[in-house]
Amino acid sequence: MYRSMLFSALLFLIIACNPSNESKDRVMQARITKESFGNVKGEEVFLYILENRNGMKVSITNYGGIVTKIQVPDRDGSLGDVVLGFDSLKGYLDDHPYFGAIIGRYGNRIDKGAFEINEESFQLPINNDPNSLHGGFQGFDKKVWQVKEHTIEEGGGIELSSISKDGEEGYPGKLNVTVEYALTNDNELLIDYRATTDKPTVINLTNHSYFNLKGAGNGNVLEHVLRIESDQFTPVDETLIPTGAVENVKNTPFDFSTPKTIGERIDSENIQLQHGGGYDHNFVLRDSSSKLKSVAIVYEPSSGRQMEVLSTEPGVQFYTGNFLDGTLIGKGGKSYNKRYGFCLETQHFPDSPNQEKFPSTRLDPGEEYRSKTIYKFSIR
Ligand code: GLA
Repeated sequence: MYRSMLFSALLFLIIACNPSNESKDRVMQARITKESFGNVKGEEVFLYILENRNGMKVSITNYGGIVTKIQVPDRDGSLGDVVLGFDSLKGYLDDHPYFGAIIGRYGNRIDKGAFEINEESFQLPINNDPNSLHGGFQGFDKKVWQVKEHTIEEGGGIELSSISKDGEEGYPGKLNVTVEYALTNDNELLIDYRATTDKPTVINLTNHSYFNLKGAGNGNVLEHVLRIESDQFTPVDETLIPTGAVENVKNTPFDFSTPKTIGERIDSENIQLQHGGGYDHNFVLRDSSSKLKSVAIVYEPSSGRQMEVLSTEPGVQFYTGNFLDGTLIGKGGKSYNKRYGFCLETQHFPDSPNQEKFPSTRLDPGEEYRSKTIYKFSIR
């Protein structure tokens, strides 16, 4: 008994005195609780609730890897849930616009669902006429993922994994995918994606959380102040496929290189905004290298909540929930009207498999796909 107490005290001292533990401590402390969330085709799925020492909580289900809640304090310290979604699994099983989900194999659109690799043609199912969107009819957002809860040594989070079969939703290659979610004591939600393949393929993974820093269901997002670390975007045609051009944002409603409210110019006469019904465009990051860098920062004045997005990706899809129309009843019975949420989906550019000038989304056997994104919350 005394020996074990002595041992614990010694261990505590060793940990406390070791400065390299400081960075580990950022991720180590999140507490994880697990609850049943229901059944998908007879298989039980769970809700994992990560809580850090500031009381911030992130809830994730292994159905679709969906982030169902992000509860963060406002400037008065009251917790609010800042992502759109549903109270129970049923909402996520019914048709919904990818709330909080992992998107794969290919985030955003591929023109007419067709592409070639090494002169071999592939045809994906058309689920967003006339294109393929977000991995098809049964994308990664609808998978029941395997879960490993991290031990304290590995960090406070969960690792989701799945095998996507060769030919699944039309994509070549058997893909081994893992997505790791972790919550740090700096109020960061980390998302780490990895994949390998046994045949040449294409891949573009992202997360489709819809944010409203006032709280889900509490009005539209037009007063949020946004800066994107970008001077260029990729214009689209009327089916939202990139034309292949890369245009400067200067003197256009797409200029968020200095902070602007989302609503300031969203309804201006601009053909690109008409195609999207608002913002639904890929922004080319100023630093498009694969280093982890700031992507965007959003501030909501009434709550004081702020969110910074960091990523290793070269682009970000800024989408203002233009297709939300009030028919979906979300958490607490609140309906989600047009522009009640915004997405900042870190990504390679849409339709890259057909666009030679865009950074490549090809993955070959022997390579590892890596992508990392951080959503960091604070108050002002
Ligand atoms: C993405 C697309 C949008 C829309 C949403 C889901 O962000 O770019 O056009 O399809 O997903 O509704």
